Amino acid sequence: MVSIPERIHLLELDVVDSTNRLAYDLGFSGAKPWTIVHALEQTSGRGRRQNDWLSPRGNLFLSAILKPINGPKRWSELSFVISLAVADTVAEVADRSIIGLKWPNDVLVNNKKISGILLETGNNVKKEGYLVVGVGLNIAHSPAGTRYGATCINELISEKSSIKIILPILIKAMINWYDIWENSGFLEIRRQWLKRAHGLGKRIEIIGIAPKTQEGIYTGLSKDGRLVLTKDNGEKELVSAGTVTFV
Ligand code: BTN
Repeated sequence: MVSIPERIHLLELDVVDSTNRLAYDLGFSGAKPWTIVHALEQTSGRGRRQNDWLSPRGNLFLSAILKPINGPKRWSELSFVISLAVADTVAEVADRSIIGLKWPNDVLVNNKKISGILLETGNNVKKEGYLVVGVGLNIAHSPAGTRYGATCINELISEKSSIKIILPILIKAMINWYDIWENSGFLEIRRQWLKRAHGLGKRIEIIGIAPKTQEGIYTGLSKDGRLVLTKDNGEKELVSAGTVTFV
C-alpha cells in the first residue's frame, strides 16, 4: 500500500459541508502548504460555476492548501497539473480505462465524467496569497444529473477499490505533477496534458463567456493554458474561461 508522503498534513473528517470551504478557512488562518482536508461525505459540495457537487459516502473528496512559488497569474495552470494527477491515479487502479482530459479541468473515462477539480484563491491573515485545490473523484458512485453522464472507478474494474487504496495514490500523484510544474514549468505539463486531451480537432461550443456563446474547432492549448478556438472565418481565438460542449 502507498503511504502518505511526509510533507502532507492530512486532516481526515467524517462529514463536512465542503472540504474546499474548510480548507479555505484554514488557509485564511495560516495553515501550512500541503495541508489536505479529506472527508468521507460532504453535505454542500461545491462545483464549478456555482454548481453543487453531489458527495455521497464512497466517493473521494479532498482539498489541498497550496502556496506555489510561481506567482498567482500562473495558478490556473494547476487545473492541468491536478488533472494529470487524477488521470494517473485512475490509470493506476483501472488500467484499461480510456482517459480523456476535458478542458480546462475535467477528467473523463469512456467519455463520462469521473472527477472534477475546483480551484479557489484567497489572501490569508498576513495578506499572503494561497490557493485551495479541491478534487472530487467518483469511486463507488456515479452521481446522476451531470451534463455528460458520470462514471466511477468501481464501474471500471471487477474487484472493488476503496478510498483507503486510492487516497494515497492520488496524493502522491498530485505531489509528483506539482513538482514537475514547479521544476520544469508549464510547457512540460501542457505537453503531457495534450497527450490525453479529449476532443481536440472537434467542433465545439463554449458557453459562459460574455457576451455570446462561441463556436468553432478546438485546435489546441496555448502556452498559458487557454483553449485555441479556430472560428469558421479562420480567426484563432484564445479562450480563458467557459464550458465546452461538443456539437
Ligand atoms: C466541478 O464542478 O467539476 C468541480 C467539482 C469539485 C468537487 C470537489 S469535491 C472536494 C472539494 N470540495 C468541494 O466542495 N468541491 C471540491
